[in-house]
Amino acid sequence: MTHDAIAVIDFGGQYAHLIATKVRRLRVLAEIRQPDDPTEAFQAYKGIIISGSPSLSSFGEDSAYNKAIYDLPVPILGLCFGHQEIAKHYGGTVTHGGREWGPADLHVVVDSPLFKGLARTERVWMSHFDSVTSVGPEFREVGFTTLGGSEAAHRYAAIGSDTLRRYGVQFHPEVDDTVHGSEMIANFVFDICGCQASWTMERYVEERIEQVRQQVGGRSVFLLASGGVDSTVAARLLGLAIGADRLHLLHVDNGLMRKHESQEVLETFRAFGLDRNLHFVDASDDFLTALAGAVEPEAKRTVIGNTFIEVFEREARRLGIEGHLLGQGTIYPDTIETGGTRRADTIKTHHNRVPVIERMIAEGRVVEPLADLYKVEVRELGEKLGIPHGLVWRHPFPGPGLGVRLLCSSGVPSRDGFEAIEPRVAELAAGFFKDVPGINRCVWNLGRHAPSRVRPLPATVTRDRLDLLREADHLVMAGLRRHGIYDDIWQCPTAMLPLEVDGCGREFIVVRPIHSERAMTATPARLPEALLGELREQVLRLPGVSGLALDITTKPPGTIEWE
Ligand code: XMP
Repeated sequence: MTHDAIAVIDFGGQYAHLIATKVRRLRVLAEIRQPDDPTEAFQAYKGIIISGSPSLSSFGEDSAYNKAIYDLPVPILGLCFGHQEIAKHYGGTVTHGGREWGPADLHVVVDSPLFKGLARTERVWMSHFDSVTSVGPEFREVGFTTLGGSEAAHRYAAIGSDTLRRYGVQFHPEVDDTVHGSEMIANFVFDICGCQASWTMERYVEERIEQVRQQVGGRSVFLLASGGVDSTVAARLLGLAIGADRLHLLHVDNGLMRKHESQEVLETFRAFGLDRNLHFVDASDDFLTALAGAVEPEAKRTVIGNTFIEVFEREARRLGIEGHLLGQGTIYPDTIETGGTRRADTIKTHHNRVPVIERMIAEGRVVEPLADLYKVEVRELGEKLGIPHGLVWRHPFPGPGLGVRLLCSSGVPSRDGFEAIEPRVAELAAGFFKDVPGINRCVWNLGRHAPSRVRPLPATVTRDRLDLLREADHLVMAGLRRHGIYDDIWQCPTAMLPLEVDGCGREFIVVRPIHSERAMTATPARLPEALLGELREQVLRLPGVSGLALDITTKPPGTIEWE
């Protein structure tokens, strides 16, 4: 391995990705490993971090992992579940207790390299059911925690053995709510494991370009360029590695793009001098024909995914480039989640891993220059490669595009209809979700009147409906930019629902501005009053619009997209 690196053992619940991201921010490579990977797979690392897990250590859940890691001569740090597993392995006990969740104070009672340079009391973040209740002879209690101002001590919240170089903490240093979590991870990575911070973006670019050149050799590469951050950065890197002559870019307009999006995408590639083999196909008819009559969200996703493959294969044949290597902007979490981890909580078949592409990967015909980067690192790389800030920091846009924001209906109400409610504050919504079971979405009506009768109408994906959604989405995006808040907001889907309100209109618009770190959770973002007023004027004036609402739902319980 060229760089000092840390293995992060993934016991699920997305913790491992957060840990790896935190380590990488220190310019030390961190890679995700599975609990039952063979011992040899761990040998190249200078340290191991065992992640948290939704499983319960006290009941022996998930205990059938490769325990030979404990015999390796490298330091090991366990977080939450990992902490409990380390305690158990070395003769301690773990007991099932009540859930502890939220901020706590860590009181460090003996010196430990893990907390070097930190205060004796540190604010940390807890989320667990099980606790370490005793440690084996080689270990000592390094710190205990107190929760929410209570005097009761949670013993063994930090444990360690300096001789064995094994450490464990019950809390989560990988989440930002642990105020000095990064410093704790840095102490482990640098002081305890002795890593050098060599994994810089400059080095990454040099090494990647060299690797791509070796893999591609004298061949050409064909890349599907959606215009999203990943495929744009991949195109730029491939362009630098093999030159524009051997890089074929295909941009498909699937009819589900935002307003003017395809033109902008093509202009971006031209600006980079990547237009020598820039191909464009307007396949909106193919997609809309295939979508005719589809109503259910998953049915629409499947149709869109399948049509994409058909168009891709047809165009590759037409352009005579089906023999080229296929370039993809696949990023690290996509390769991990579909690479067979049984543990990721939400496993979706990623569009970069459908059977035809799997076959090409097996034949060594796929080049994925970003496959070991997280999104935030792709963005950093994009900036380094001179891609404009506005493009690099674009809000994420789902693969099926507006297809999942254009809600459809058979026209038959499945419940008692849609009840708009007008909470004054987002907290009220949060309380609502807690107290009223079965409710997973809360919207704030921005219309001029409280709707009294709402009726779902039959509707499918049509060009007219998409055009209307495109206009509404465009007004929202332009508003965010005009008020200078586009960059503060993580994502802002605009969804359209076929609803008639009080006998008027046929399409109800819902705007969902959110803050999020990795889309796993989300909190509603506040929009300025002035912008809400402007949107009320502009969106409600669009022909056919029956109403406008602001989605103020947290995730959980509500997903970011409406379907
Ligand atoms: P949810 O709605 O699951 O969204 O809270 C989480 C993130 O994933 C995006 N998303 C998708 N992306 N294909 C994609 O490529 C999809 O089918 C899809 N559905 C949701 C969503 O925009 C958000 O960023």
